[in-house]
Amino acid sequence: MAVPETVMTNDDLSAIVETTDDWIRQRTGIRERRIASDKETTATLGLKAAQRALEVADILPLELDMIIVATSTPENVFPSTASLIQSWLGANKAGAFDLSAACSGFVYAVDMAAQAIRSGRSQKALIIGAETMSRVLDWSDRGTCILFGDGAGAVVLEASSVEGGVLSAVLRSDGSGGDLLGIPTFGSTDMAEIETLPNGHKLGKMHMNGGEVFKFASRVIGESINQALDIAGLTIKDLALIVPHQANLRIIAAAARSLKVEESLFYVNLDRYGNTSAASIPIALVEAIQAGRVKENDHIAFVGFGGGLTWASMVVKWGAPKPDDRSKMLNRQRREAIYAFAFWRQRLIRLSRQLNDLVNRIRPNRGRLQRLRRRIDSETLE
Ligand code: UT7
Repeated sequence: MAVPETVMTNDDLSAIVETTDDWIRQRTGIRERRIASDKETTATLGLKAAQRALEVADILPLELDMIIVATSTPENVFPSTASLIQSWLGANKAGAFDLSAACSGFVYAVDMAAQAIRSGRSQKALIIGAETMSRVLDWSDRGTCILFGDGAGAVVLEASSVEGGVLSAVLRSDGSGGDLLGIPTFGSTDMAEIETLPNGHKLGKMHMNGGEVFKFASRVIGESINQALDIAGLTIKDLALIVPHQANLRIIAAAARSLKVEESLFYVNLDRYGNTSAASIPIALVEAIQAGRVKENDHIAFVGFGGGLTWASMVVKWGAPKPDDRSKMLNRQRREAIYAFAFWRQRLIRLSRQLNDLVNRIRPNRGRLQRLRRRIDSETLE
């Protein structure tokens, strides 16, 4: 995982909009969130998380054959965030694309990769959830700007003969709720100078009907986890942990009530990061592993919900290869060399393209000059 260093507390927010630390804690459970610096982007945060995931999995970028970035805050429509990261990593044998399913995106992406591995198409896939929500927040809307934060998390999935991994997934969408939560972009109007659409939504800024999303989320978490458990042939009692999308503590409490389980079955870190959209589940997963809450052969569930509306649940049997220390050290050095090579390769390719352009621009001028000189010479002779 990778989060920006800058911490924004609830008190910091109360200097921007009419709110209080007390209100935010009581209604959401959030205490603080991380905000990207001017130099950080969705792609740079995603890259850091990706490099750490490759380190933990102890594999080289060249072994990857698929990179998916789940995000709602890419810098570009294209090139995708995944393509930027693929180039920076030097993962030259990987296909790369972004996946847009809002806060459910990470679970969708893991399922895409797991299916590709299961079919034999892919051997090693890198899945990243990365967001800079601070760039799409309307900082005058206290109903949304208090909720979100920036960050990234990543996992590596690899083919294995050991039974386990992704056992089941339930991916759903109800586009009739598309008006409840969204970020309209310039594609929604051909008049680039318009900032506010006829329905009052601002271009490039998030809008949300919090109450409706709250009800929807509280309902679908329990429902979809039960569906995923059914498909996996398991029951809620088999789960060691649920890693939910980190939106609101009250939503998690409602889901725990509907599943008739203790709230402690859910891993929660939204108090420190707020809602990081597609990044929230992988960030929470990393911290759950670090806290010793995920053990070999545990059954764990992921559940995401958000814009679309979309929602997704997944049951996983946890298993991770344990690389030995010597191979780790050697591969670490190789990875560093590959990252440096990838950096200079991209620079040199772009530089040589610019030089080519320059030469091509000068060449026709040189031809024109020569033609002019010939004309002058012939006219002087005459
Ligand atoms: O990942 C995407 C998924 N998104 C979500 O999961 C968000 C789901 N929704 C929520 O988390 C909650 O609906 C919110 C936290 C956004 C709002 O909580 P709520 O309990 O639904 O509050 P509300 O919107 O019903 O507002 C209650 C009161 C209102 O005042 P009045 O009308 O009762 O006088 C609001 O104007 O609280 C007021 N209010 C605030 N007060 C202080 C709303 N936002 C704030 C605020 N600070 N930031």
